[in-house]
Amino acid sequence: MNQKETYWHDEAPKYHWAHSRLKLIAETIRGDASVTSVLDVGAGSGTLAHLLGRGVRYLGLDITGRKEPVDAWPPIRFCDFDDAESFSSLLDQPFDAVVISGVLEYLQDWRGILRLAATKAVKPNGLFLVSAIYDPFYATFPMKRHPAWINRFVPADIRAALAENNLRLDATYPMWAGGYPWTASLSRALAGRGNSVHPRWMHWLGVNQFLFVCHRN
Ligand SMILES: C[S@@+](CC[C@H](N)C(=O)[O-])C[C@H]1O[C@@H](n2cnc3c(N)ncnc32)[C@H](O)[C@@H]1O
Repeated sequence: MNQKETYWHDEAPKYHWAHSRLKLIAETIRGDASVTSVLDVGAGSGTLAHLLGRGVRYLGLDITGRKEPVDAWPPIRFCDFDDAESFSSLLDQPFDAVVISGVLEYLQDWRGILRLAATKAVKPNGLFLVSAIYDPFYATFPMKRHPAWINRFVPADIRAALAENNLRLDATYPMWAGGYPWTASLSRALAGRGNSVHPRWMHWLGVNQFLFVCHRN
């Protein structure tokens, strides 16, 4: 294992639980009966697969995934997204839904990975879900940014990348850290529809990230 792989083997387990973002993603996927296959980009140990159940064909990719094919469920295969070629080589058949949750912050070429996922990994009309931190929250409050974050986002960055890659934005959910049950209702209540934009002061409400729900055109 190289240094980055060792780092994530130690770090990734902190995120292996059903927090609010993953629950909202699972709820959105389950709400679309046409989704029978899901690619989870930066899957960790596959918590999302457990939330979705075995009724969907699930594949997780992660730097902590297995380098050899495995029978274990959920299947999590090794991929380092800083090597776009290897990511591309794993995308041999498109999925009904693609999820990129809590990952873009760490990637050297986040736009390149989003582009590959949007063009090769998801079917036409497929569901595409991507999250990004809201940097103004971290610039305002004494909350530490993750030490491995190399990208800082505002929603306009993600909206531009979605539009460039022919992804139609259906809804944007403001999100709060952790798994407090009240945040899910608030995220739903304050969701922006279509291309509507949230006020810039959303971080004053404690919003530290957004979830973007799209479809490929
Ligand atoms: C914050 S966790 C998010 C996990 C899950 N998607 C979620 O929403 O809870 C970030 C994940 O990205 C993975 N990761 C970070 N850098 C990566 C890279 N260069 N290639 C592949 N996976 C990476 C980590 O191993 C970790 O599982």
